[in-house]
Amino acid sequence: MTLRLFDDITEPGLSKESLGTGAAILHGFALAREAALLEALNSVVEKSPFRHMVTPGGFRMSVAMTNCGVLGWVTDRTGYRYDPIDPETQRHWPQMPQPFLELATTAAEDAGFPAFTPDACLVNRYEPGAKLSLHQDKDERDFTQPIVSVSLGLPAVFLFGGDKRTDKTTRIPVAHGDVIVWGGPKRLRYHGVMPLKDGSHALLGGYRFNLTFRKAA
Ligand code: SIN
Ligand code: FE2
Repeated sequence: MTLRLFDDITEPGLSKESLGTGAAILHGFALAREAALLEALNSVVEKSPFRHMVTPGGFRMSVAMTNCGVLGWVTDRTGYRYDPIDPETQRHWPQMPQPFLELATTAAEDAGFPAFTPDACLVNRYEPGAKLSLHQDKDERDFTQPIVSVSLGLPAVFLFGGDKRTDKTTRIPVAHGDVIVWGGPKRLRYHGVMPLKDGSHALLGGYRFNLTFRKAA
């Protein structure tokens, strides 16, 4: 804990915590780019608004979603897929903004993945009560590339599980600016988000936003 204290003195709010080989939480990593990220988030959402997608089983997801990048993750009655076209606008997803790309690649590098080239960014919006059930990110082609997940707005509890859905999960509190990276032997770990608690964030109000960067193609 002495180390953590030292980190806090040199770089306020910044510290890296290992979650085992291939995974880490970078506390506060996104804060340095906060203004540029929020502006970029707005520009993405203006072009491809948040929507509640439907699972293949017919359930409306509590988390609202949109995407940017060459590919976007979508779910509907036919299944899950990556699609270059936003089914709502019938246009390409907005380009991945430069501040998004820089954040994702530098975070991946810091966590030990120096060659991350994301082509997809799923943007999630949680309102109080919204949650994400345990799942694996496995619709991507290349599992050698990690997942980079950026938390913005209200705090939440991220669940990091094992290779089986029934494995024990670790509860990881995530706050505005935190980045979690998982790859290598952890790439297919089950993960999810506990129901969001009510609250008000100084910049983002009553929501949590999450950016997940992937190399999908
Ligand atoms: C995801 O698993 O796609 C998102 C995780 C999160 O919102 O933290
Ligand atoms: Fe996921």
